[in-house]
Amino acid sequence: MPLHIIIGAQWGDEGKGRVTDLLAAQADIVARYSGGDNAGHTVTVSGPDGPRIFRLHLLPSGLVQPHVTGVLGHGMVINPARLLEEMTALRGLGIEISPARVKISAAAHLITPAHIALDRADEAARAADAAGEGKIGTTGRGIGPAYTDKTARRGLRAELMADAERLGDRVADQVRATNHSLEKLYGQPALDPAQVAADYTAYARDLSPYLAETSLYLHQRLSAGAVVLAEGAQGTLLDLDLGTYPFVTSSSPTSGGAFVGLGVAPRFAGRIIGVTKAFQTRVGEGPFPTEAFGEEAQRLRGTGANPWDEFGTTTGRPRRCGWLDLVLLRYALRVNGVTELVLTKLDVLSGLSTIRLCAAYQAAGQTHDELPSGPADLAPFQPVYETMPGWSEDVSGARTLADLPPAARAYVARIEELTGVPVSLISVGAERSQMVRCD
Ligand code: IMP
Repeated sequence: MPLHIIIGAQWGDEGKGRVTDLLAAQADIVARYSGGDNAGHTVTVSGPDGPRIFRLHLLPSGLVQPHVTGVLGHGMVINPARLLEEMTALRGLGIEISPARVKISAAAHLITPAHIALDRADEAARAADAAGEGKIGTTGRGIGPAYTDKTARRGLRAELMADAERLGDRVADQVRATNHSLEKLYGQPALDPAQVAADYTAYARDLSPYLAETSLYLHQRLSAGAVVLAEGAQGTLLDLDLGTYPFVTSSSPTSGGAFVGLGVAPRFAGRIIGVTKAFQTRVGEGPFPTEAFGEEAQRLRGTGANPWDEFGTTTGRPRRCGWLDLVLLRYALRVNGVTELVLTKLDVLSGLSTIRLCAAYQAAGQTHDELPSGPADLAPFQPVYETMPGWSEDVSGARTLADLPPAARAYVARIEELTGVPVSLISVGAERSQMVRCD
């Protein structure tokens, strides 16, 4: 009956999708609890005709496993147009998408074109405001404005889709209200309320069969012994409260968010699995103490020729890259209560003569193992690096710790030592089976 929670321990893009897919083999239900189509999860499965790559933004990655039921929890914000596109794409790849397999919380909130227009207009205004902190670098998917409407108690909940005509009227009202801000505040063109209403009426007809009381469903299934995986999106450092504010997303992708975003009680909690890359990346603006530049960064990022190179799954933006930051990782493990770590992309480090690891920060002549004032203001801190020897061997075929070269094992052991959390899995390639099991 446990709820195992998979969280990102960095700034997102840690590889949670492929970890969810792997662990879903032993689960009955996989549930998303926060965020929207700002997330991009990739699962690679090899078959007789070569690798099949599944890219998911809204549907839980666990759906790639045929026995799994997927839940979109009420902590999410859902763009119905994107969800329908994703459903069609997955069906095309042979995945069954039906109301029996996919359940959408009636209390999730809907994203509309008005939210997207506001997100982009606000980013442009922030970028132009010389006195402000600059833009956030959002994904432009309307996430922030949709959560703003939710907290302002004027949001459009998915339950409105049960009455398509009523949803159409509500969406038209929302577009008219937003047009005022778009035109008067941001100098942007207005949207057509009638067109948006017609589109949402059609989406509602397609999606209403998927609506469910997902909190009750999950409670009943957990009580009956089901194993549920809560699939985090984004990462701890993008959490609205716990991240590098204001350069964060507008939801709670941390483990606490899973209970709120699914309506499941904490007493069901099982393992809390923290996923981190073997190095550090970030998309969008905001502090990044261990950021690398020039050739070093390019080496970690890759050229973009491979699907696993460091370019956004959702926006295609090149990710900022750098060295693993153990100060931030320790913080993430603490606030989530992580019980085990999954280390991804160890193979990307193969071939480097040395690898750097940020063990502590330094500021004003003092060394800090922990963040003295949280993660929002990292500007005063300089990373204190340990330099470890690299390895030249190809590790992509490793399946046990003993298969890894000694220098790679030493790197993993040092991470365990500096975090106090055991590493249970290490990914050494994009394919589902390319995992080292550490037990
Ligand atoms: P938003 O979530 O689109 O509002 O973007 C806010 C910040 O979160 C920006 O820095 C985005 O780049 C970042 N972000 C949102 N979703 C993801 C994700 O799935 N991976 C990595 N960064 C993300």
